[in-house]
Amino acid sequence: MNDSNPVIPLFDLDYGPEEEQAVLRVLHSKWLTMGEEIAALEQEFAAFCGVRHALAVSSGTTALHLANVVAGVKQGSEVVCPSLTFAATANAVIYTGGTPVFADIASADDWTVSPAKIAEKITPRTKAIVVMHYGGFACRMEEISAIARLHKIALIEDAAHAPGSTYRGKKLGAIGDISCFSFFSNKNISTGEGGMICTNNDDYAAQIKIIRSHGMTSGTVDRHRGHSFSYDITALGYNYRLDEIHAALGRVQLGKLTEGNRQRRLAARRYKEGLKKLPGIKLPFADREAEANYHFFPVLLDDAVNRQDLMSYLRRRGIQTSIHYPPVHNFSFHRQLFPTSDMQLTEHIAGHELTLPMFVGIKDEQIDFILDSLTGYFSNI
Ligand SMILES: Cc1ncc(COP(=O)(O)O)c(C=O)c1O
Repeated sequence: MNDSNPVIPLFDLDYGPEEEQAVLRVLHSKWLTMGEEIAALEQEFAAFCGVRHALAVSSGTTALHLANVVAGVKQGSEVVCPSLTFAATANAVIYTGGTPVFADIASADDWTVSPAKIAEKITPRTKAIVVMHYGGFACRMEEISAIARLHKIALIEDAAHAPGSTYRGKKLGAIGDISCFSFFSNKNISTGEGGMICTNNDDYAAQIKIIRSHGMTSGTVDRHRGHSFSYDITALGYNYRLDEIHAALGRVQLGKLTEGNRQRRLAARRYKEGLKKLPGIKLPFADREAEANYHFFPVLLDDAVNRQDLMSYLRRRGIQTSIHYPPVHNFSFHRQLFPTSDMQLTEHIAGHELTLPMFVGIKDEQIDFILDSLTGYFSNI
């Protein structure tokens, strides 16, 4: 068995006939981009999150880039963000000419960015804070929102992992000034590529609509319908548009999200029951089961466990695992440009984290097989 053909993959798509029909609907409509599917997805996503505006874009990364742009991040700006995240969280800051300033995580149990560490990193140059809801577990939004308000800086949620998760009853992605979702293949809403920006700020929304499409004041559909004959370009824009096929897939996936997240929580409960008995493994985010969407299932290995050896053993048994994340501040590109110290907790977790398979449709027997495999491993060391 090898990684390319695992018996139990890290993630599996929850696709069926509805997705197939959605794609055919678009093909038959003969309208491939920025049309009715996008408008409907935006409306449905805004209603789901409870925000005034949802704007579809080509990826989570482009969502983050635009969020930084409208928050006013530019050359000379600093943006405080976590390092225990995917590189795009920090790279989106760098695209604008700004500097990511990495802050450590909260604790060995809460791997989201620490409010106290964020506060320490604020300077007169800080333009924004970007938080990332690791694995779909909420950051400490109350404390972090208070810091952003105190310093009058923007709070951006990297909610790539978080569709459907809540924080004290409120949807993640509806708390900060702007939030960014990813619809990449392995996300809870999977369309291959795609993303969404949410905001309650009318001015941000108006700017995003323009700069996601070359800075143009009217779209192809307006001109097609005779609403507009020409256009002006009022800002430096990009082609960060989503297309109709991805939007149609997104609508089906959004419709399945709540039930899918419920199934993930049940799977997580089964994992937790079994893992409680294992000496070499700890479970983070105690008490957050009810509000998390379990985008993935992370565990923490004790110092005595050789992670590489365990991953190889599981791979031999057909179980795919992963690591979330190699810290961004330690990549050679980022280290050179933004040397960072004071990241002990991030480094500890990054060195000991292991992600187990989690997806809608994972079977009880598959989880039991993983638990048996882990039990076998730990009884032999
Ligand atoms: C935390 C986080 N932020 C941003 C992204 C970027 O999203 P995308 O791949 O859609 O560009 C990802 C994932 O891919 C992610 O995991």
